[in-house]
Amino acid sequence: METQIVKIENAGLVSDKINAAASILKQGGLVAFPTETVYGIGANALNTEAVLNIYKAKGRPSDNPLIIHIAKKEDVYLYASDVSNEALRLMDMFWPGPLTLIFKKKDIISKTITGGLETVAIRLPSNDIARKIIEASGCPIAAPSANRSGRPSPTRAEHVIEDLDGRVDMIIDGGKSKIGLESTVLDVSTQIPIILRPGYITREMIEQVIDYVLIDKALIKEDEKIVPKAPGMKYKHYAPKGNLTVVDSTPKKAALWINEQVKEKEDSGYKAAVISTMEDQSLYKCENIMVIGSENDNNEIAANLFKILRQMDAKEIDYIYTRTFSDAAIGMATMNRLMKAAGNEKVSL
Ligand code: TXA
Ligand code: MG
Repeated sequence: METQIVKIENAGLVSDKINAAASILKQGGLVAFPTETVYGIGANALNTEAVLNIYKAKGRPSDNPLIIHIAKKEDVYLYASDVSNEALRLMDMFWPGPLTLIFKKKDIISKTITGGLETVAIRLPSNDIARKIIEASGCPIAAPSANRSGRPSPTRAEHVIEDLDGRVDMIIDGGKSKIGLESTVLDVSTQIPIILRPGYITREMIEQVIDYVLIDKALIKEDEKIVPKAPGMKYKHYAPKGNLTVVDSTPKKAALWINEQVKEKEDSGYKAAVISTMEDQSLYKCENIMVIGSENDNNEIAANLFKILRQMDAKEIDYIYTRTFSDAAIGMATMNRLMKAAGNEKVSL
């Protein structure tokens, strides 16, 4: 399949490009487009064949459900039943934005999208291009992250091209993703809402709107026997090809240990690299030091994580080392993705 690559700099000025994307979606095709979190690969959520093609293009297991993207809040009632007052307050506060809500599904939503579940995930993105495409298509858009299954999520059009060129009808280049990590997934189909995937919208932010929220146990305990409630969270995701080691220690101690490991690997002919904050970089002795951002800017670190993991693959790095990052605010999501990329193993010194 030939993939059209279309650059959009200002969503307000380019209705012809938006309309071209919308018309592909309407006809059952696949369009990858930017959102404020990561790029998504979209299809008409009401067209089962189109939805199956997303699974094919990504190489995604069929039990892993998709998020439905809508362009206006009221559309939630078309696809979800039992929308609680708490959910409404959350929608008013955080939509459009990086919060996905899980509701009981209506029959119009096929189980092909929900991985066989009776619930459906819905999100109203804040990115202008995404919203305009969904609006113009006139259909709800099922859209997982636009990466091949198992690869880090794409935060730039070039990442999508790497993974999906020839597998989708169109890729919209809308520049780099603002947030860089996928949306917070919050289950509001239960008595007490539960965070199934951490993201930019934190527990603290949610608790300013509703009384109480739980966090899925699988996100807190490092115990492989606890099965995450979001099917997608059980897969070893986001993994770079090289072996990633996360070190939990003070900057100096961590650097001493990492420098030793790097030397050992390089002496044995392997390529090693370190992911470092701006502040720590002078502590490391390594040919490849990738600076992820300032330790004082958790948003910057989050926005750069997936890009750096992809750069590790591009440079064919065999061994990657990093110290843990702050888990405050979006840091919880950053550490969640980092630990998954590391196969949930950490060296504590
Ligand atoms: O930021 C995002 O959410 C991006 C952009 C493109 O919008 N999309 C995204 O989709 O990350 P995806 O498919 O890569 O991740 C969806 C996550 C998976 O972990 C999936 O298991 C979970 O949401 N999920 C979807 N429907 C669910 C449901 N009914 N119950 C529990 N978890 C669900
Ligand atoms: Mg994904």
